[in-house]
Amino acid sequence: MARSSRISGFYNLTPAERRRIVADWASTSPDQAAATVELLRSLGGLSLEQADKMVENVVGAYALPLGIATNFVVNGRDVLVPMVIEEPSVVAGASFAARLARAGGGFHTEATEPLMIGQMQVLEVTDLAQAAANLEAGKKRLLDLANSTDPVIVSLHGGARDIEVRTIAASPVGPMLVVHLIYDCRDAMGANMVNTACEALAPLVEEMTGGRVNLRILSNLADKRLARARCVVPVKELATEDMDGETVAQRIVEAYALAAVDPYRAATHNKGIMNGVDAVVMATGNDWRAIEAGAHAYASRSGSYTSLSTWSYTVGDPTTGAGPALVGSLELPMAVGIVGGATRVHPLAQFSLQLMDVASAAGLAEIIAAVGLAQNLAAIRALATEGIQKGHMALHARQIATAAGAASHEVDAVSAVLVAERKIRVDRAQEVLAQLRSGESQSSRT
Ligand code: MEV
Repeated sequence: MARSSRISGFYNLTPAERRRIVADWASTSPDQAAATVELLRSLGGLSLEQADKMVENVVGAYALPLGIATNFVVNGRDVLVPMVIEEPSVVAGASFAARLARAGGGFHTEATEPLMIGQMQVLEVTDLAQAAANLEAGKKRLLDLANSTDPVIVSLHGGARDIEVRTIAASPVGPMLVVHLIYDCRDAMGANMVNTACEALAPLVEEMTGGRVNLRILSNLADKRLARARCVVPVKELATEDMDGETVAQRIVEAYALAAVDPYRAATHNKGIMNGVDAVVMATGNDWRAIEAGAHAYASRSGSYTSLSTWSYTVGDPTTGAGPALVGSLELPMAVGIVGGATRVHPLAQFSLQLMDVASAAGLAEIIAAVGLAQNLAAIRALATEGIQKGHMALHARQIATAAGAASHEVDAVSAVLVAERKIRVDRAQEVLAQLRSGESQSSRT
């Protein structure tokens, strides 16, 4: 039976109740669900032995919150999204925006083939044009050699696809060639296989060019491995207490316009996108630094840094019954894998993949793009209406109430007073808590 990610009141459940719901989503048997509940209860999911095999000089493990974003529909499929992040409001923002997008059919996504680029830097070439021609003529030999380094990926229909040669006429050390190996990584992120292939190719590249190969490393500007997401939000969904949906949509488009033309705003706008992107990348054990590097380099591809997303207003089409709507789109490099590295080793990364039920790296990339677009919508909608602090304040107030000693059944009442008074301080929370408790003890005596 199709399940709905629209879980009303998920926010108000206890962590234990939420754990049971997501364990059922991620599991195919009661035993597996029970094991998943235990894994989630372990607050980090990583044993010291596992951590010790991942990096060097391990002394422990460092836990971050794992939250679940609800309401996502991606290509017609309901998805619960795991997000690892330390910042309040991000999970709530993604869930809220996914609910808005859901009203317009959710997110429509696609991904290109998983093609990564490996670079070889060739120096001391006497005739750049002749060397480039030799590489072109020797392409088949190069591709065959690259493929011989990883028969497994070749058997999975991946492997070396093409050789591209770029001539750099001038640099701080003079002219050089850069040889790009285009490599289909299938469901892996691919850094290891691309680096291995580049290192194996270097002697042959030297033979063909008469030059010296220096660097042999993949490029994080993975602009042949893109993920795209699009959503159409009916304007009536955007209405707030003080503003009609039409006005909110126009203001969101205005907010986007500044990011489109101003790098100062684009950096913050894209940071909002990456709040969502990175959180899912982290939850699945992928390399978020690689994704960050690729995203920001891609945002600069025109020569000036700009928004990764676009937002526009459409009046709709009365002939089809489509009403006015806000249309968003996002495109960015998405070099993520579902096999290898921490994705395989970290039990919570495995849980995250099972929860989203993704069968390919491309499927994961598409969900991540949808989350990035949702996160962007949540941020610019808040900025263009009530401002970002109101939403933050409610969550912050809950944290302050807890810090002041409020028990879980007291947190909502204390934080409501703090928000109403706009005094999000521990000393005030303590006063409110004391008043609440004295009121309760009086009423229990009467
Ligand atoms: C904060 O983490 C992210 C935002 O600054 C994004 C934005 O301004 O669009 C709210």
